[in-house]
Amino acid sequence: MSGFDQTHDETCLGSEAGRKRRVHVHSYGCQMNAYDSQRMADLLVPEGYSECTDAQDADLVILNTCHIREHAAEKVFSELGRLRALKERRAATGADLTIVVAGCVAQAEGEEIFRRQKAVDVIIGPQAYHRLPELLRKAGSGHRAADTEFPEEDKFDHLVAPRPARIRARGVGAFVTVQEGCDKFCSFCVVPYTRGAEVSRPVAAIVAEVERLACAGVREVTLLGQNVNAYHGTAERGGTASLAALCARLAKVEGIVRIRYTTSHPNDMTADLVAAHRDQPALMPYLHLPVQSGSDGVLAAMNRKHRRADYLDLVADIRRARNDIALSSDFIVGFPGETEEDFTDTLDLVETIGFASSFSFKYSPRPGTPGAELPHQVADDVKAVRLARLQACLERQRQAFNHATVGRTLDVLFEKKGRHDGQIAGKSPYLQAVQVDAGQELIGEVRPVEIVAAGPNSLFGRLARGAGGGAPPR
Ligand code: SAH
Ligand code: SF4
Ligand code: F3S
Repeated sequence: MSGFDQTHDETCLGSEAGRKRRVHVHSYGCQMNAYDSQRMADLLVPEGYSECTDAQDADLVILNTCHIREHAAEKVFSELGRLRALKERRAATGADLTIVVAGCVAQAEGEEIFRRQKAVDVIIGPQAYHRLPELLRKAGSGHRAADTEFPEEDKFDHLVAPRPARIRARGVGAFVTVQEGCDKFCSFCVVPYTRGAEVSRPVAAIVAEVERLACAGVREVTLLGQNVNAYHGTAERGGTASLAALCARLAKVEGIVRIRYTTSHPNDMTADLVAAHRDQPALMPYLHLPVQSGSDGVLAAMNRKHRRADYLDLVADIRRARNDIALSSDFIVGFPGETEEDFTDTLDLVETIGFASSFSFKYSPRPGTPGAELPHQVADDVKAVRLARLQACLERQRQAFNHATVGRTLDVLFEKKGRHDGQIAGKSPYLQAVQVDAGQELIGEVRPVEIVAAGPNSLFGRLARGAGGGAPPR
């Protein structure tokens, strides 16, 4: 299985009277949505579309939406209001605008979206987007179209491989979805409902995709999955491969020098994956391992199925395997029933572990999830105060982590032009942005860099002595 279909429908959707049509894809939410947005844009290239960065210039706008918190979903409806006004202005001049709602809001709300916003032409769920050209054809003939099925066929088998020039334009780092869906059913979370059951792509399909990326200049891949460390895809010689085995295989792809993966659940952090952080040099020492809360009572109510002590033990194991590993986490404050004492347990866990960077959110009750039905919902002002306290603590740790790298020499993978002329920007192994005075010929290469200063969001460094020329280290 190649993982990508090179064929496409003969009737071209995107060119009308010789004019190329333009598509703008706006991605909300997680990195998996960012990956899906690129795949949808790739699907439309053989249909005659070119991509544009501004909805004002587009004939087709795709909102690839996120349903994780109420605020995320509401942002989509405000944007749809603006697009409706644009569509009406176009109609007055005889032109048109096609509006597609894709992603997790599309999956969760389905045809209800047509009722809330009449300007929408197509609704398509995250598992069905390979059917996008077909739905656009339907919409083109004046019928609104929706597809929120979890189809039998695998969407990955029907995607279009991007041309090398498109891959190059996206840079030296690429996302690759290797696993989708979630069977964990944390009581606050919509993902198991919007993305469906856990599925892993076969190793051969992932290798083919990564080889194509590497040939076009990609040097770092970030393997994505809602539960990426639960990965268990069909191995190349039959049987099942774990995420550690997949990483080991991808490290052999010519040109790939760095591998990352996200997001992991603590309960799926298997011994072989922990050991891979010791044994596989391509695996970067940065791990996003959400804990959500430091209180056993809250963790149980969240249906996380791990306790605070399990998480602390796991972090100790990981640090034994790779003592410089940088950790990051997600946190939710104000889950129903969370007391001041529970919240203090979270602050205490943060102090005990020390995170390099983290995301933290106020609990947002989501319709259809068990958390939304629980008694003792926490008042919004209490959530806001807790969030501010937690974020102050996490920000202090992030700054301390960044400042601790000053004076050290770190390998940096250069990715793009820097903020100022004569600068290039890259990433440290710990996912920190690093700005260096150096020529653009180093983009795509790894060089040792001496870190000389830490700003609020970037490190600043200079090429370490003797760092010129040569192939990127493997
Ligand atoms: N699969 C990942 C996370 C997916 S969602 C994991 O298991 O950790 C990303 C983050 O959004 C979650 O880690 C959680 O912190 C946050 N989140 C999910 N549902 C939420 C809700 N209802 N309210 C607030 N934050 C939420
Ligand atoms: Fe959501 Fe929990 Fe699954 Fe993560 S593990 S996607 S938080 S249900
Ligand atoms: Fe959002 Fe769906 Fe990702 S709800 S976080 S876009 S899986």
